[in-house]
Amino acid sequence: MQRMRWRAAMALLAAGSLVLAGCGGGDNQGGGGGTPGASKVEVFSWWTGGGEAKGLEAMVADFKAKHPEIQFVNAAVAGGSGTNAKAVLASRLQANQPPDSFQGHAGAELQDYIKAGQLEELDSFYDENQLRSVFPQQLVDQITFEGHVYSVPVNIHRSNVLWFSPQVLAEAGLSGPPTTVAEFISALKQVKQKTKKIPLSLGAQWTADHLFENVLLGDLGADGYNALWKPGADWSGAPVTKALQDFAEILTYTTTEAASTDWQLAAKNVVDGKAAFNIMGDWAAGYFKELKKTPDKDYKYAAAPGTDGVYLWLSDSFTLPKNAKDRPAALEWLKECASKQGQDLFNPQKGSIPARTDADTSLYKDYLAWALQQWKSSKLAGSFWHGVTANNQWHTDIDTAVGLFLNSRDVGKFQSALVEAAKNDAG
Ligand code: GAL
Repeated sequence: MQRMRWRAAMALLAAGSLVLAGCGGGDNQGGGGGTPGASKVEVFSWWTGGGEAKGLEAMVADFKAKHPEIQFVNAAVAGGSGTNAKAVLASRLQANQPPDSFQGHAGAELQDYIKAGQLEELDSFYDENQLRSVFPQQLVDQITFEGHVYSVPVNIHRSNVLWFSPQVLAEAGLSGPPTTVAEFISALKQVKQKTKKIPLSLGAQWTADHLFENVLLGDLGADGYNALWKPGADWSGAPVTKALQDFAEILTYTTTEAASTDWQLAAKNVVDGKAAFNIMGDWAAGYFKELKKTPDKDYKYAAAPGTDGVYLWLSDSFTLPKNAKDRPAALEWLKECASKQGQDLFNPQKGSIPARTDADTSLYKDYLAWALQQWKSSKLAGSFWHGVTANNQWHTDIDTAVGLFLNSRDVGKFQSALVEAAKNDAG
């Protein structure tokens, strides 16, 4: 409850200040020549923190070099995985005050905005910029609705990564990372018994949602997990109960949930040798790079337990909202996002692989070299928490159920809430 009130207050505050900022902005009179009618562009995301802001900055620097006539207005709202940003965005869209372009996940989340009539289609933009064949087809399917394409994907992220400290594992007498959920639980127990370190580092509530999708995938496998997001899916069966019991047990080895820490501190505990494990998306790789940590020495990585050979994927994409004040500049921003150069500047910093299939692979080193190869050879499952399989309402309903569960630890009630959510929100 406390959290919800805080979030809502932050959302209103941020929305208010943005609207005020917008008032002084003046009308778009056109810039200094490069792009007719374009003098500024307001881009909305949630990339403010470690690793994330750096990635955005790299692309923005390239954009500014190409468009000195366009002022870049960074309207990012802090909060990992968009926890605060999405609320601010919703109120701006409702008030018909859209930013010129906003970040939206490919898949069900994007489809919400499309179905609500809030986005312009980008068919001619795709044709003019020869983008029809530069993205993988399964990704294009996720940004297409009724034959029209609606956003520009900048990357592919992986949700199911287990980050671990080789030092803490050695101290606990573990010879390597666990490969199944059962092994994971034993390893956590061993860390707890043999060391004074945190077995599994966790941050704000959304990082528990993130952990939850990983445990579901680990226990159910790609086919079982993917089936959960189809209309009429059965969330009431024994395999889901087992996953929820495992999730409950895993949570007993985590730090107490702390809203203020977000995901960065939870991940940092691993590279600082304070925690054995953290399950987080590969934006953590971008953050570790920024922290100047060395892969294989300060940290190691593997697929989250039980998910080897599966890429639990998600993709950040940028949109053109209807009634964008600075439409010509927004189209230039989208060109930057779509470009090979923009993607190759952004992704090595962000810890993601490029959405384009023709990117320069030599720029993707260490973890990212592994990710590129894994992306080609793995089965795919869509992240629910990061917008691929669950729409915004379903996402909120699961988050509410997870929040209640973190307090009650009542598996039966948790499962009933998930069954209800699926009934109300699927399809
Ligand atoms: C995801 C987003 C990533 C990263 C992460 C943590 O939802 O797709 O780009 O920003 O949240 O904030």
